[in-house]
Amino acid sequence: MPINNEDYFQINTEILARFHKHRPPLDLYVFREEIGVLEPFYRKGGRLTDAQVAELAEICENGNLFVAHSDKDIYREYMIHQLDLVLLDPNLTEGEIAELCILGVATKYSNYYEQPVPDMMQLLYRDVMVITEYLWSDKHHIAPFMRRLFRKADPARHAVNTMIVGTWLWMQMNQEYSRKELDRVMLALVLHDAGMCKMPQFYLTKKGKLTQDEWDKMTMHTVASVKLMQKSDLKFDELIRACFEHHERMDGSGYPQHTRAGQISVMGRLTAVADSFAAMICDRVYAKGKDLDKAGNELFADARYDKTMTSILSTAFVAGGPLGTAIEMDSKLDALAK
Ligand SMILES: [Fe+2]
Ligand SMILES: [Fe+2]
Repeated sequence: MPINNEDYFQINTEILARFHKHRPPLDLYVFREEIGVLEPFYRKGGRLTDAQVAELAEICENGNLFVAHSDKDIYREYMIHQLDLVLLDPNLTEGEIAELCILGVATKYSNYYEQPVPDMMQLLYRDVMVITEYLWSDKHHIAPFMRRLFRKADPARHAVNTMIVGTWLWMQMNQEYSRKELDRVMLALVLHDAGMCKMPQFYLTKKGKLTQDEWDKMTMHTVASVKLMQKSDLKFDELIRACFEHHERMDGSGYPQHTRAGQISVMGRLTAVADSFAAMICDRVYAKGKDLDKAGNELFADARYDKTMTSILSTAFVAGGPLGTAIEMDSKLDALAK
C-alpha cells in the first residue's frame, strides 16, 4: 500500500514516547523502505513484546512509523506533541486547531519555565512557528484563539494569553507585515516574562502584599528576562523590548526605568497592554478575574497605557462582537497535566 499523506501520518519519537509502551492506543504501520510498502505492525488491543518495542523505537527514529488518519480522534490528543501535524490535517476545524496550538504552546512554555535550557526553548520556538505559519496563511485565524483565553493564573497560561491578545492587537494595528515580523512579535509576547522563572516562586502566589524588598526583587524579572534571552540565540529587538519595557507606563510610573510615552517602544507598549489585560482576566489569590469586556474598558480608561492600543482592544470583546462566545480552556490544560 503506497503512502498517501492524506491517509497516514508519520509520527515522531516524542509522540511514540507518550503511547503506552506495550499497548499503544491505536494501529501502527511501518514503511518498509526496501519494498516501498506500508505494512501493519501492530493492531490496537494487542501487546508488543520487548523486542517489538525496541524495533518500533528504531523504526520511529528512522521516520518510518505511521498511524492511520482514520484514528484521528485517538491521535489528536497526541498532536500537541508534534504540533505541525495540525497544519496537515484537513479535517480539523479552526477551533480544534486553535485549541491544540494553545495547549501545545502552554505545555512547552511550562517545560521551559521549569527548565530554561536551549532544548526546551527549541520546542517552544517550534510550536510558536507552527502558529505563525497558520496565522500567516490567514490572519482571521486569530479569532478562534481570542475565544480561548485562560482564566486561571499561572506562568504558562499568562504567557499564552499575552501572546494571543498582543498578536490580535498587533494585527489590528498593522494591515501589512512580513512573516518574519509576525514570528518575532509572537515570540516576544510569549517570552516577555521568561525571567520570572528566576524569581522566588512564592511571590506569585503570596496572599498578602509583597514587602518592599520582595517587590524590588520582583521588578527585576524584567532584567532577568533580558539576560535569559541574551543567553539564548534569541536576542532580536522586539523580544528585548518586550521583556525590558512591558512594565513601563506612559506617565513614567512604571519600572524598571520609569521611561515615558514616546520613549517606550511600540513593542513595549503593546506588550504592556496585552500583559495587563492577560493579568486582569485571570483569577488571583486576592481577586476573581474580570470579564473580558470590562477589562478592556478599564484599560482604555487608564491613561498609563497607549490609548490607540487600548481603544482597539476595548472593542474586541463587546457583547455580540465579531469574536463570538468565549470557550473554556482551563480544564483542557488541567486534564493534560494529569
Ligand atoms: Fe512582567
Ligand atoms: Fe506578564
